[in-house]
Amino acid sequence: MEVERSASADVATVNTLQSICYSRGSLRLLDQRKLPLETLYLDIRTAADGWSAIREMVVRGAPAIAIAAALSLAVEAFNLEFSGTAAGSASFLIEKLDYLVSSRPTAVNLSDAATKLKSLVKNVAETASDPKAVFQAYVDAAEAMLVDDVTENKKIGFHGATFIRENIKNPEKISILTHCNTGSLATAGYGTALGVIRSLNAGGVLKRAYCTETRPFNQASSWVLRNLLAPRYNLQGSRLTAFELVHDKIPATLIADSAAAALMQAGRVNAVIVGADRIAANGDTANKIGTYSLAVSASHHEVPFYVAAPFTSIDQSILSGDQIVIEERSAKELLYSHGGLGQQVAASGIAVWNPAFDVTPANLITAIITEKGVITKASANSFAIKEFLEGVP
Ligand code: MRU
Repeated sequence: MEVERSASADVATVNTLQSICYSRGSLRLLDQRKLPLETLYLDIRTAADGWSAIREMVVRGAPAIAIAAALSLAVEAFNLEFSGTAAGSASFLIEKLDYLVSSRPTAVNLSDAATKLKSLVKNVAETASDPKAVFQAYVDAAEAMLVDDVTENKKIGFHGATFIRENIKNPEKISILTHCNTGSLATAGYGTALGVIRSLNAGGVLKRAYCTETRPFNQASSWVLRNLLAPRYNLQGSRLTAFELVHDKIPATLIADSAAAALMQAGRVNAVIVGADRIAANGDTANKIGTYSLAVSASHHEVPFYVAAPFTSIDQSILSGDQIVIEERSAKELLYSHGGLGQQVAASGIAVWNPAFDVTPANLITAIITEKGVITKASANSFAIKEFLEGVP
């Protein structure tokens, strides 16, 4: 991974909300650990660079990590002098895709993208005689993922805003709470839950968006980054979502995670909307740690709780949330500032449990908003996602 600071002359032309900058043969990822104070792009040349960027949270957010992974390999494949067979190029790509999937476990978008790309290259290799044809097909498909994601997010925004306006009390003045970052930075652009907020705002009905700080993640990083580039805390809500909301001039307020229940008790929000890293077939949803607490509070205060996600976040191979693997991150993220490498902030010797995600059961979710429309409950405890899909033209 090569570090590239934006020269000051370039900054004005850089879209600071674009986490993935791609043109054929070249990929740069916005280092989200540095936002909002610094715009720094890292040059990604190989799948190994992509793997590290995902693991180290340079890029994060379920759709964004899937696309960044696919494109990191597209760049490597495009620039490679490969003289083997078509079957050999397919094996090369498949091996790298399996490796990329190992970077982070919870978001299904990454493994879903890899499965689709592996199947594509296998199929192309069966008929192609030229190894370049396999690489070409791979690059085309990875690039399509980037384009499709923005289109899908805009559809999620449209369906979500329409549904919320039709189903909420006081649809003329909606105040909505969101968690983590699900915006342009977490996707190829526009966002999922934050895309719905953008769409409500564009429709003139958003009174205020509230974003949680989203603890506990503090980015651990290398000696070089720590000492030479001075990374700061990276709380997805206060640093990234707040940054996007301010950028878009959306009326918005930041709250500590622990203030969410009190916000609802005070009647200050009429909906909660979050993204998803993996949704099971019954609607149970894994998302950033703290999502479950928000859903419990929302249920207690009778505030509707929406999940907004593309279909690539739905894992129909698992029946319920029990089967979702939850990533656990380093204890250092809780014990020390600056990603475990700064000052100690907790008592020496304390044990730590630091899950990055939790699972919200379907019974606490009001509706799941997707690019194909809004999925409502089939029963009090589950969503019939398969049946919904069968009904989509
Ligand atoms: O650990 P992160 O920052 O990758 O977690 C991100 C989230 O939990 C998001 O809510 C989710 O990926 C949806 S992004 C559109």
